[in-house]
Amino acid sequence: MTTGERASTSTSPDNPDFHLCARHTHVHARARSGVRGSIVVMTSYDWNAQTYAENVGFVPELGRTVLDLLDPQGHELVLDLGCGDGVLTAELASRAGRVHGIDASPDMVAAAQDRGLDAQVVHGAKIAEAITEGRLVAGSFDAVFTNAALHWIPAAQDVIAGVHQLLKPGGRFVGEFGGHGNVASLSIALHAARRLHGVEPAAHPWFFPTAAEYEELLRAGGFDVRLIEIHHRPTPLPTGAAGWIETFGDPFLGDLDADTAQAVAATAVELLEVSMRDSHGNWTADYVRLRFAAMRV
Ligand code: BEZ
Repeated sequence: MTTGERASTSTSPDNPDFHLCARHTHVHARARSGVRGSIVVMTSYDWNAQTYAENVGFVPELGRTVLDLLDPQGHELVLDLGCGDGVLTAELASRAGRVHGIDASPDMVAAAQDRGLDAQVVHGAKIAEAITEGRLVAGSFDAVFTNAALHWIPAAQDVIAGVHQLLKPGGRFVGEFGGHGNVASLSIALHAARRLHGVEPAAHPWFFPTAAEYEELLRAGGFDVRLIEIHHRPTPLPTGAAGWIETFGDPFLGDLDADTAQAVAATAVELLEVSMRDSHGNWTADYVRLRFAAMRV
């Protein structure tokens, strides 16, 4: 997907606030302003580095504090699991000896490589496979860092097993991702909007465990858990709920035809206005993060 695709839009007859791209495959909703802006339905689904930065650039930005928790040392080899477009990986690289990024999205890996970072396409639940194929080396990393990636991978045990394989004994696994109750309003609004438009419920797409649940998984996977905590972090959305849905809403919209998808997205935004938009037109999402630091036994 390129930004050029945004130019090809037409106004939906049912809702003048909504625009439909010519070659629809999946749906993205885009706020043109923070306040009830026009929404553009994009033509294909893959995370685009530019819209990601515009809509949810806070994701890597707010992950900086997790880097402090990792406290990378100048001699260390660190893996960034779910490196995204490399914004935070670059910061990590300036503090560690060497950094290697992995991400499931080719577009994101390309963006990370464009920043001069060492990165490759590997799904977080398929690290063991990448080791077998010789694309990653078992027992070679001093630390594995991850920010805002693990909630996309319900196969948490596979991730933990892969990370365990990659780390040297005593190596650190440090990160942050969505915790129990994360983006509850956005999820409920998208579920409700589907129902209101008469479509089947979507399976809940994300893995948002409690601290107790994730601690149990880490311990069972051979880690000594040094810190694990949930924190509530109300998060301003620069392009509103529409922009957030553009980037992250595909699990609720991607199976729908273009008209239904844009109608569902519009209804979700309308429902969310009540609780997420203030009188100045600023949107704030109900983020909950789970932060952890564990050591490979
Ligand atoms: C995030 O990366 O911040 C995120 C993605 C999907 C759902 C919730 C949060």
